[in-house]
Amino acid sequence: MKSLATMKSFARTQGRAGLLAGAALALLTASATADSITQTPFGKTKNGQPVSLYTLTNARGAQVKITNYGGIVQSILVPDRRGRLDDVVLGFDSIPRYEKDSPYFGALIGRYGNRIAKGRFTLDDQTYKLFVNNGPNSLHGGKVGFDKKVWKATTTKAAHGIGLALSLLSKDGEEGYPGNLDIRVVYTWTDDDSLRISYTATTDKDTVLNPTNHTYFNLAGQGNGTVLDTRMTINADRYTPVDKTQIPTGALVPVAGTPFDFRRPHAIGERINRPNPQLVIGKGYDHNFVLNGSGLRLSARASSPRTGRVLTEYTDQPGVQLYTGNFLTGTLKGKGGKLYATRGAFCLEAQHFPDSPNHPLFPTTELKPGETYHQTTVYQFSVR
Ligand code: GLA
Repeated sequence: MKSLATMKSFARTQGRAGLLAGAALALLTASATADSITQTPFGKTKNGQPVSLYTLTNARGAQVKITNYGGIVQSILVPDRRGRLDDVVLGFDSIPRYEKDSPYFGALIGRYGNRIAKGRFTLDDQTYKLFVNNGPNSLHGGKVGFDKKVWKATTTKAAHGIGLALSLLSKDGEEGYPGNLDIRVVYTWTDDDSLRISYTATTDKDTVLNPTNHTYFNLAGQGNGTVLDTRMTINADRYTPVDKTQIPTGALVPVAGTPFDFRRPHAIGERINRPNPQLVIGKGYDHNFVLNGSGLRLSARASSPRTGRVLTEYTDQPGVQLYTGNFLTGTLKGKGGKLYATRGAFCLEAQHFPDSPNHPLFPTTELKPGETYHQTTVYQFSVR
């Protein structure tokens, strides 16, 4: 990562582009004193609940905005290789748009990220039925998932950044899931441009849980075309292929020799249109990768050759869903009136494998009373 001083002298030598970069840098430097967090009203939900937008600015002037509606990451302003700040996540300018039109932009997902086959699972000999909202399956928590809830918010100050703690009680039986679930998610925006997401949760009955964050990234700036030129690396030797309804077959298949081999960087667009049956089912990448190793480790890295922006993801989860915005149609108008192209973003959803409650051989998503669920996932931005 370049220091501000280096970026400044670099900008000085760049003529017109340099002037623009200089202006952005002036902004950066002006605010590069102390980190801060501010709260502003962000309108009301259709049920009349007021929600807020929290702006987290770090000591370098890079900025994240998060709303307590859905725990949505609404904007992330980070510098490109010239120091020019741009917003790198898709989203909307108002709550009604999130309520009506959002394909989970930026949201916290739960109780179960991705699909549960036929909206059914059995736990302790009891069968639970969930809301079916995706063909024959239940997707991303059902009808009213965590993404549509108003979370309780408190701001915190960490040693090297600022934080927003969000919490929620998901009641026993909500969306068909057993147990009163207490969940807390802390977003920390640190001075090295890392957005750290820590989840903890407890239950009073045996249940299943697989929360994630569904931010859509475009490192060239939100609404600035597709991510087909973004170079992607994923730390996974295997992935979980799916059936026609996007439920894992149960097999963990080697990526070697397939378009799913991202162990070395490949442009997202390089192999995405190949007649590979899995890519046909997903209309592109929409698959869970089985991460190598365990504990908090590097899971994926994406870089934009156009802007030099790099996103590195770390997680302690066993999997990550690479979704390449295949269901965006180019007609959805987002922030600032920008149109979102098909494949105009990618998501790297840290997670347990889809449909784990119906696959006893997958790492378990069960949570029991007396246990505490933990997850840490970090999105770190830098330039190259
Ligand atoms: C996940 C799913 C996709 C799609 C998106 C949101 O990535 O796997 O199929 O539902 O969320 O549109």
